[in-house]
Amino acid sequence: MKGILLHGGHGTRLRPLTHTGPKQLLPIANKPMSQYCVEALKEAGITDIAIVIGGIGSSKVKEYYGTGKKFGLNFTYIEQDYPRGISHAISLCQNFVGNDKFVVFLGDNILRGGIKKYANEFDKSNADASILLCEVDDPSQFGIVEIQNGVIKKIVEKPKNPPSNLAVIGIYFLNSTIFDVIPKLKPSWRNELEITDALELLLEEKREVIVNTVTENWKDTGTPDDIIHANQFILETMVPFFLGEKEDDVLIDGKIMVGKNTVIKSGSKIFGPVILGENCIIESNSQIGPNVSIGNNSKIANCKIKNSIIMSDCVIDCTVSINNSIIALNSKIIANEKDDEKVFLLGEGTKIVF
Ligand code: DAU
Repeated sequence: MKGILLHGGHGTRLRPLTHTGPKQLLPIANKPMSQYCVEALKEAGITDIAIVIGGIGSSKVKEYYGTGKKFGLNFTYIEQDYPRGISHAISLCQNFVGNDKFVVFLGDNILRGGIKKYANEFDKSNADASILLCEVDDPSQFGIVEIQNGVIKKIVEKPKNPPSNLAVIGIYFLNSTIFDVIPKLKPSWRNELEITDALELLLEEKREVIVNTVTENWKDTGTPDDIIHANQFILETMVPFFLGEKEDDVLIDGKIMVGKNTVIKSGSKIFGPVILGENCIIESNSQIGPNVSIGNNSKIANCKIKNSIIMSDCVIDCTVSINNSIIALNSKIIANEKDDEKVFLLGEGTKIVF
């Protein structure tokens, strides 16, 4: 089986974070979110992976993933000139997959527990597709299935009047039959060749589509709040490690992951789950957690931070409480306001002084 990782799109709902790079490289628990997809593919035994790139930051994707050698995988890059839809992106990979079965993984979807059992089931089956469903609170934001007597009747993209709350998640097991139906698709209301329309055509042509339901373990990361939840979701599953240094009189409660050369100074408090990258300094009087990731080479002083992602090379020196925030690479916040709670969504290289 082969893999296709979708790493294109514009990431408009995540601006300003996506002004300087693709959303799928935004870190969750200090690792690009698409790397969780790559690791899930690898765990399922899939080693040949096409990465579809396009738009801002394509070169950053190539730079980060390279040939795949450092991950023990083989990557092939396929350029998409414009985000013309998931089915369009898949159609560009026809030569790459040939007659093999394959799995398409949207680079902004995370499935805890991986895909191995679903990949094995599809591999052994005669089905033309296998999809995974998950109950959602906001079905008008997803591809939704209509089920009658346990059988899928219809698949619709972002319906205004959803027939159910069962969303099709962004991991699709397919065979080459999909290349017969994609040319029959018409662009949707959002001017894209939709994967849901391709799946709907498979159903109309009475092709076999396997369905499995996943519970609690899936996150789509379309919005900043989704990313903050995904961060918590991954931190909860991590195995603690401590490679840094801690002075006396530091309070640590709960699970923490601390990288090399990071120093936690006396008087600070950490409430896990929290991950601190390498070469960070957590100054006295800081309070971090729960649900916080701090990237490499960052310095935190005097503030309280919870439910937030602070990326690498940041300086946060302020007496405010930071909550539900995402602060991108190389940003600086210097402030003297007392105890005021603040929410930040800062693009790369932002400086704030108040
Ligand atoms: O997350 C699950 C949902 O993903 C499904 O329920 C929907 O049926 C499916 O259409 C998709 O909806 P989104 O609106 O969330 O898709 P989005 O435009 O965010 O694109 C999904 C990923 O694919 C994202 O990582 C960007 C990438 N992409 C997208 C398009 C349209 C490409 O690489 N090329 C493209 O042309």
